[in-house]
Amino acid sequence: MDQSIHIAEAQPAPPCTVVIFGASGDLARRKLIPALYNLRACGQQLRPRDFAVLGFARRPIAVEKFREDTREAAARFSRLELDQHCWSEFAARLDYLPGLDQPDGFTRLKARLEQIEAAHGLPPNRIYYLSVPPEAVPECVERLDSAGLIAKPGAANFTRVVVEKPIGHDLPSALEINRAIERYFDELQIFRIDHYLGKETVQNLLVLRFANAIFERMWGARNVDHVQITVAESEGLGSRAMYYDPAGALRDMVQNHILQLLTLIAMDPPVSLDAASIRDAKLDILRALRPIPHDEAPEVTVRARYSAGMIDGHHVPGYLQEEAIPQSSRTETYVALKSYVDNWRWSGVPFYVRTGKRMPARESIIHVQFKNAPRILFNRGGALPPNALTIRIQPDEGFSFSVMAKQPGLDLTLRPVRMNLRYESEFDGASPDAYERLLLDVMTGDHTLFVSSAFVEKSWGFVQSVLDAWGDDHANPIHEYTAGSYGPAAADLLIKADGREWYNP
Ligand code: BG6
Repeated sequence: MDQSIHIAEAQPAPPCTVVIFGASGDLARRKLIPALYNLRACGQQLRPRDFAVLGFARRPIAVEKFREDTREAAARFSRLELDQHCWSEFAARLDYLPGLDQPDGFTRLKARLEQIEAAHGLPPNRIYYLSVPPEAVPECVERLDSAGLIAKPGAANFTRVVVEKPIGHDLPSALEINRAIERYFDELQIFRIDHYLGKETVQNLLVLRFANAIFERMWGARNVDHVQITVAESEGLGSRAMYYDPAGALRDMVQNHILQLLTLIAMDPPVSLDAASIRDAKLDILRALRPIPHDEAPEVTVRARYSAGMIDGHHVPGYLQEEAIPQSSRTETYVALKSYVDNWRWSGVPFYVRTGKRMPARESIIHVQFKNAPRILFNRGGALPPNALTIRIQPDEGFSFSVMAKQPGLDLTLRPVRMNLRYESEFDGASPDAYERLLLDVMTGDHTLFVSSAFVEKSWGFVQSVLDAWGDDHANPIHEYTAGSYGPAAADLLIKADGREWYNP
């Protein structure tokens, strides 16, 4: 018997044109174009009715060359295998315009959009995807406005803007960018993207928590000993030195992805499933997240960078040997920290988070460790491992619950065992990529999986407390960890000081 409970149907997208600012960049090639192709690809249920894609960037590239480059990228990075017929259909509506940095660039953008819409019979529903460095965002929105490219909210045809992370470099710049966007766009027109929110398992966190009464009853200080969030990557820097070295892991991963995971795991049940209620519930967690006091940073935060090591049997260079990294760099590729959510539910429960590049494997998990069994019966010696719920965000999505069981035999021997659910074996069909889900939501105007302006500001507020403390390089030295390891010894000490240890997947 099919016991599925259908809550909401994916909405078909209205016809529109997606303009990718920074279309010759890495994100466009690896993620955006493949996701748009997959949305359109023949036979996919998500197929929007009709849309065109216009790449807009500085570099002069012929349209044919742009199409060829994006075809290669799509063939390499697309979730679905590239089908020649579908690609030709997609490419026929894929255009490129150089001159983003030229004085008449935006007037030409307007003319080209009108041309595309006339040629393909599309209404002027427009999505501007700003895949540009954060400092370029204010100028882009201002120029969109001067060129008359922003329709009023509620107009017959929509104009929407998508802003990529990082929104800002610190709290003041995040505030400035938010203000610049809000000067020209209504909040309903703004979609701040955090691709972690588009991941199937991240969306599943709410279902796991609020569709299963058993967990919700256990969720909080009364039963939970502590929570760990680990986002490990085996990849190094690649060719992203220009972006990464001024940023580092705290800005790149903690301010956005990790704080999103933390708020989803800690939030109270929202009053409904609408975007505003979910955003409010998440924001309450950030309001309660304890900032790191300057003088406590050395005990509760660790920053580190990788040194040369081995990953998957291959030698990999250290961070300072990566191309284009200055020898004077103080950038961290690894962060570990401890904080608390100072609200009624989580009072006194530590949240440990860590993320790093060049760790042994790409693995993101949330590990909720419950309190120990009372020191009677089986746990007199206090050695009984506590129960834990481990949610695997990626790869091998699913979750496991560790419990104690009696080992079969005449002796009374206890052993921890795992009740394990793997989404892949439980459900048929591949999940859409995070960017497919999120781009479709922008087209349909659904804000549920997007970041509010208040979230950006509050999350930067928290991160800023750490950045300020790290300004004192002497008190907060940068540690090293060997590529292929789970991080520096200092990160182990951080958690061991509380009598706990990291859960290494
Ligand atoms: C991006 C960061 O936002 O997320 C990258 O800029 C990081 O540095 C990436 O590698 C991780 O995303 P995913 O989906 O591979 O976990």
